[in-house]
Amino acid sequence: MSLVARYKFPSRSSSGPPVLVMLCSPTRHGSRNKSMALALAHLLLAAALPLLFVSRADAGEVGVCYGRDGNNLMDPSSVVNLLKANGITMVRIYDANPTVLNALANQNIKVMVAMSNGDLQSGAGQDVNSALNWVNKNVVPYYRSSQINGVAVGNEVFQQASGLTSQLVPAMRNVQAALARLGLADTIKVSTPISFDSVKVSFPPSAGVFQDNIAQSVMSPMIDFLQKTNSYLMVNFYPYIAWANSNGQISRDYALFGPNASPVVDQSSGITYHNLFDAQLDAVYFAINQVSGGSVRASMAQARRGRPPPRVPVKCSECGHPSGGRLPPLATLDDVQVDVATKANAQAFNNGLISRALFGASGMTDVSVYIFALFNENKKAGASVEQNFGLFYPNGTKVYQVDFHNGGGGNVCPTKASWCVANSAVGSTRLQAALDWACSNGADCSAIQPNKACFAPNTLVAHASYAFNDYYQRKSQASGTCDFSGAASIVYKPSPSICDPNPSWCIAKPEVGDTRLQNALDYACGSCADCSAIQRGAQCFDPDTKVAHATYAFNDYYQTAGRASGSCDFNGAATIVTQQPKIGNCVLPPNNS
Ligand SMILES: *[C@@H]1O[C@H](CO)[C@@H](O)[C@H](O)[C@H]1NC(C)=O
Repeated sequence: MSLVARYKFPSRSSSGPPVLVMLCSPTRHGSRNKSMALALAHLLLAAALPLLFVSRADAGEVGVCYGRDGNNLMDPSSVVNLLKANGITMVRIYDANPTVLNALANQNIKVMVAMSNGDLQSGAGQDVNSALNWVNKNVVPYYRSSQINGVAVGNEVFQQASGLTSQLVPAMRNVQAALARLGLADTIKVSTPISFDSVKVSFPPSAGVFQDNIAQSVMSPMIDFLQKTNSYLMVNFYPYIAWANSNGQISRDYALFGPNASPVVDQSSGITYHNLFDAQLDAVYFAINQVSGGSVRASMAQARRGRPPPRVPVKCSECGHPSGGRLPPLATLDDVQVDVATKANAQAFNNGLISRALFGASGMTDVSVYIFALFNENKKAGASVEQNFGLFYPNGTKVYQVDFHNGGGGNVCPTKASWCVANSAVGSTRLQAALDWACSNGADCSAIQPNKACFAPNTLVAHASYAFNDYYQRKSQASGTCDFSGAASIVYKPSPSICDPNPSWCIAKPEVGDTRLQNALDYACGSCADCSAIQRGAQCFDPDTKVAHATYAFNDYYQTAGRASGSCDFNGAATIVTQQPKIGNCVLPPNNS
């Protein structure tokens, strides 16, 4: 509590740098103070968030499946570097491999370990003592340093080890009892990934039911168990399969989170779906309702008034889309003509999925996801698409661009830009010389000529700032390109002293609703945006509406990210405008007046 009093947010107009800028530029003076700055930033964030934001809560979290079915993969410690370099904060592995778990130790990466179907078979899960032995061997040595957050008991047991179906729930209970005995049951949850094939009817979503042979015998006790232990159901979703088999009924946009998909209305629940993943996710929720004793009729009535709280949350334990290879033989010849397994499609799906998880979606349940998979794995059997699910090639090169937005698990700004401004203290002679040099060595100085957009204010400092910054941006903000013999210095916010001939701003879209705006607002303020000005009492607190605060935060994020492509989106909650918005007395940077 005293922290709140001690570390007040400075208002934007106070002298000195806004303290939260450190969140976005912890390294601006080199790495020397990085950990201190970060620690301070965390402290400040922890202290300051209760003022406006309940928590740094994203709608859902994003992780990856780290499968190792390849003979050419990087070693686990290089993999950890790759995860960190890409802001990936959560992984699922398919065993409890000691080398992998040791590499993940003390890295601030959550890891879900697995008891393989083979272990289920060999008896590890089958009684409390053998389950305890399994936990003692595979969890206990690692959980203090590796952030183990779950044990997946088996994988797609109904399809891959159907003989063990009846033993699945008892095995889950035994592993959970073993964890509870060791005092680990609060932090390490027990679940099991089931295939989406376990849902017999998935369309319309409100008709969702599990397959007859598992619904009452397995899923019903499993849902009870998951609810009692505050756990979640894990489902492997591959919407591309339904798309590829839809004989043209499902559009590319609908399958890949496209913004222009025609919505699909479930007539009996009245729920509107904008993508195939959400429809499949809801089919699972309706199937859960069917086996868990809840009246389906009641839940649909509730759904019309707003979504009922799920009895157990569903996590996507594998969500993926192949970027190449051939699909298994499809139902009809026409189906094969859908060109599904391409890099562009995989990229659209995974970026859409990440945004859906981190920012939520109107009227939909929040969801955490594990993307399948980290790597293309060359030893995977089956159709050739199987070897093409990776976000990365085995050597760590990206197969296509994916933005993890730092996985939602950290407070680091993923893309931070910088600007170059003139330093008036060096005097007009040196400024003029540097200005002349910049304009004759690559800076485009046409906009500061008489009658042009940035001629006013007609001062040497303004013209020099314009030219220095133009030069610096053309050199891609490379180190050493904002110096001009000391006449210039780098800043980490777009400076009002640099004229912007083509200004643009990022504003919130009121129509997406307050819940989505809050999710995106939390995300923006927890990463790139400096939200000190919208705290109570600060200059942009009024008007105190979600739209106004979100607009402030989105714009600050957008400007801080250098208006990078994709930095004004927030899963469709934001849009770019070219007229300076007016929000009460709050002037949105960049102040171009
Ligand atoms: C990594 O592997 C991919 C695919 O084989 C290849 O195209 C790329 O050039 C490799 N990159 C490096 C840095 O070796």
